[in-house]
Amino acid sequence: MKIAVCPGSFDPVTLGHMDIIRRAADIFDRVIVVVMTNTNKNAMFTTEERVDFLKRSTSRLYNVEVDSYGGLLADYTKQKKADVIVKGLRAMSDFEYEFQMALTNRKLNPDTETTFFTTTTEHMYLSSSLVKQVAKLGGDITGFVPDCIINDIQNKVKGLNEDSLT
Ligand code: PNS
Repeated sequence: MKIAVCPGSFDPVTLGHMDIIRRAADIFDRVIVVVMTNTNKNAMFTTEERVDFLKRSTSRLYNVEVDSYGGLLADYTKQKKADVIVKGLRAMSDFEYEFQMALTNRKLNPDTETTFFTTTTEHMYLSSSLVKQVAKLGGDITGFVPDCIINDIQNKVKGLNEDSLT
C-alpha cells in the first residue's frame, strides 16, 4: 500500500488544491491531506474550519482522509509511514522555496520522498491568498474554491469586516 501525504495550510482549500488531491488519489492507495502551520503566514481560518472545508470537499474521494498536525512535516510523515509527500507546483516562483523544503524534509526523514505535481494551466493563477482578497472585497469566488464552502468563506469575511468596524 502506497501512502501519500498532501500537506499545506489550505487557508482555504482552492480548486487548485483539489486538482492535486484528486490526481494523487488516482495514483496512491491512501492519501492523507494534512492541515499544517506555515510560520510565514497568518491564517484567516482556524485549523478546525480548514479541516472541515477539506473534509466536505473530499467526501466523495474514498481513499482520501483529512487530518491536522502542529509539528514538523517530517515527523508526521514518519509517524504515518508515508512513501511520498505530494505538493503542487504552479510556477518557477514556487520552485526555490519548495526545493528548500523538500531538501530539509529529506534530511529530517530520508524515508519519505517529495514529489511535485505540475498544476493544470486552468489553476496556475489560483492561490488561497487571492481567494481571500477577492472575498474580502466582495468579489465572486465561484470557480476558485469548491462550491460547498463558498458560503462559509463569505460568512467568515462578513464577520471579520463587521468586527473591524466595531
Ligand atoms: O500551503 P503552504 O503554506 O505552502 O504549505 C506549507 C507547509 C504548511 C506544508 C509548510 O510550511 C510545512 O511543512 N509546515 C510544517 C512545519 C515544518 O515541517 N516546517 C519545516 C518545513 S521544511
